[in-house]
Amino acid sequence: MTTQRTDLQIAHEAAMKGASVIRHYTENRDRLTIDHKGRHDLVTQADVETEQKIIEVIRHYHPDDAFLGEETSADAGLSDARTWIIDPIDGTTNFAHAFPVFCISIALWENKEAKAGVVYEFNSGELFSAEKGGGAFLNGRPISVSKADKPEEALLATGFPYRDLEIIDPYLGLLKVFMEETHGVRRPGSAAYDLASVAAGRIDGFFEYALSPWDVAAGTLLITEAGGTVTDWQNGQDWLFGKRIICGNEAMTSYMSDRINRHIPEKLRRAKGG
Ligand code: IPD
Ligand code: CA
Ligand code: CA
Repeated sequence: MTTQRTDLQIAHEAAMKGASVIRHYTENRDRLTIDHKGRHDLVTQADVETEQKIIEVIRHYHPDDAFLGEETSADAGLSDARTWIIDPIDGTTNFAHAFPVFCISIALWENKEAKAGVVYEFNSGELFSAEKGGGAFLNGRPISVSKADKPEEALLATGFPYRDLEIIDPYLGLLKVFMEETHGVRRPGSAAYDLASVAAGRIDGFFEYALSPWDVAAGTLLITEAGGTVTDWQNGQDWLFGKRIICGNEAMTSYMSDRINRHIPEKLRRAKGG
């Protein structure tokens, strides 16, 4: 009798097999070719081949499922059908420079809701996982968001804008406020890792501008399952495609939201664009 694999087990297996493609290139860096999608937007053949491997593993179990993957189906959109949202290497710039923070992010969504997700940080071997309603875990141990409820106790993380440079000045103003009011702001270079770090209570709050669905589809499930909150930049829920996200425990989300309201002009806070 064969036991049916759960979606989380499939995501885990796909991440491990994807990681073996990445490992091949970390061990053979001379074979790595780096292309530019944009001035600050890199892609390597490791990104493409890792995504292909992940899809191959999932298709083996669920041939009819849909995919929204950064490298092979970025324009696919999201229907109510079972859809795997994949970022094969989140943190490609880090990967290309051998800076050791980059993740595989895989989430299953259905009826516009995340059902299961994993974030695998390649260098530390940390596997963050969650299933809807089942809590969040790091290497099998339960995790939860931090309890910090004052900015002066908080460590924040973000990603710097690099496509839409119109936001740079107000963004720098916002960073100044966070630098003055909190323990500091980190920029690890992988949004999936930032989100997983919020879920694990290492980072108290995270905000970013211009992220894509594959950056956040798994990490946000980790956060809600770890007891945290996720919003867009207008206190709404349009963060999967809306390109603006804030998350943390409830107190930190509301603190960051207040400062973003005060320091970022309304037209830049509106979902989409950027
Ligand atoms: C990037 C990383 C980075 C974030 C960028 C993303 P990629 O993903 O998550 O932290 O600041 O906006 O595009 O391109 O390395 O998959
Ligand atoms: Ca990404
Ligand atoms: Ca990527």
